[in-house]
Amino acid sequence: MNILIADDDLVTLRLLEKHIQAWDHHVYAAQNGLDAWDIASSTDLDLVITDWKMPGLDGLELCQRIRNADLPGYIYLIIVSAKNTNQDIVTGLRGGIDDYITKPFDFNELRERIATGERIVALEQELRNKYEIIEKNYFQTIRMFSNLIEVFNEDLGGHCRRVAKTALKVAQRHPHVDETEYPLIEAGGLLHDIGMVGFPDHMLLKKTTELPGEDLTLYKSHPVQGEIILQEVEYLRPLSKIVRQHHEQVNGRGFPDGLSGDQIPLSVRIISAASTYDGLIHKWGYGFEDVSERLVLQKGYQLDPDIVDLVLEINVENMRAEKKRNHKMVPLEDLVDGMVLAESIRRKTGTLLMPVDTVVTLSTLNKIMKYAELGNIGNAVMVYKESMRK
Ligand SMILES: [Fe+2]
Repeated sequence: MNILIADDDLVTLRLLEKHIQAWDHHVYAAQNGLDAWDIASSTDLDLVITDWKMPGLDGLELCQRIRNADLPGYIYLIIVSAKNTNQDIVTGLRGGIDDYITKPFDFNELRERIATGERIVALEQELRNKYEIIEKNYFQTIRMFSNLIEVFNEDLGGHCRRVAKTALKVAQRHPHVDETEYPLIEAGGLLHDIGMVGFPDHMLLKKTTELPGEDLTLYKSHPVQGEIILQEVEYLRPLSKIVRQHHEQVNGRGFPDGLSGDQIPLSVRIISAASTYDGLIHKWGYGFEDVSERLVLQKGYQLDPDIVDLVLEINVENMRAEKKRNHKMVPLEDLVDGMVLAESIRRKTGTLLMPVDTVVTLSTLNKIMKYAELGNIGNAVMVYKESMRK
């Protein structure tokens, strides 16, 4: 094992070093707490044996620092001290140390204590390896289900992927979402509509308002169908709850349980806002500019108002990205017949002079030049890239 020893008494330090090296461990030695911390924070350690009383950073503080730091692997902490009242021992153990040895100590006993530490470190490592396998299985299962949705219907798969992306972005901006919840929220977005796998194609393309009664009943069963699919896998149960609840509304008019407000977990409120947003754009055909008005109407009714604000923020970014992809600023002297305005031309005061989607003709070109001559507009306008190629 890699063992760090810290003691301000050089004689004890050398004695410990000699013995522990003889037991086939690699030893790092420090004569004070700060040096010990430097080693601990930059070295791959398995075990630390530290004196309690040291100048600067004492042994207990050193142990607490190690415990609270995000160091790779579990480090077994032993404090060696002349302090030996019960209260001292309790304080030490509460501070996150694993073992406590009082001075003067017996080297045979120390050897056994180190052996105990070695067993614990090995068990911790084994546990971590198993956890990694479970984590890997978890993500592989999510990917498998997500692929299944995609294979069943590309549009539904696309919707789920986009919802996962938006939901994750919202979660990352929401002050009450801890980063440990991000993977669950992203997975919830990816699989929220899994209960629709097997539904007839015509239902997937229609808006809910267009579904006849029978289809609507089937549609409304998809959150529970999804829950049933996922709850079969034990480690997907938290996800199955999200799937069940993703059509609940903050006003209590959702389904299947009619939950309202905070009864709906924050993660679910995020996914349902992301899903509504995506539906408005891809199913209902709203453009980025018009969708915000629709979302604002849902504030406090269907959707959590604070989450709507975050979605609106993301919508503005999507709009800008879309513009970057599709629009280009063209200097007025390069404007030619056939180009189409991608943004309205407005007087610097904001008054509309020429609406978006106007096709540039000789007459509109003359008008635009006139506006520029009079100093009403700048020297470039935004056009659709597509119209430039014509
Ligand atoms: Fe849904």
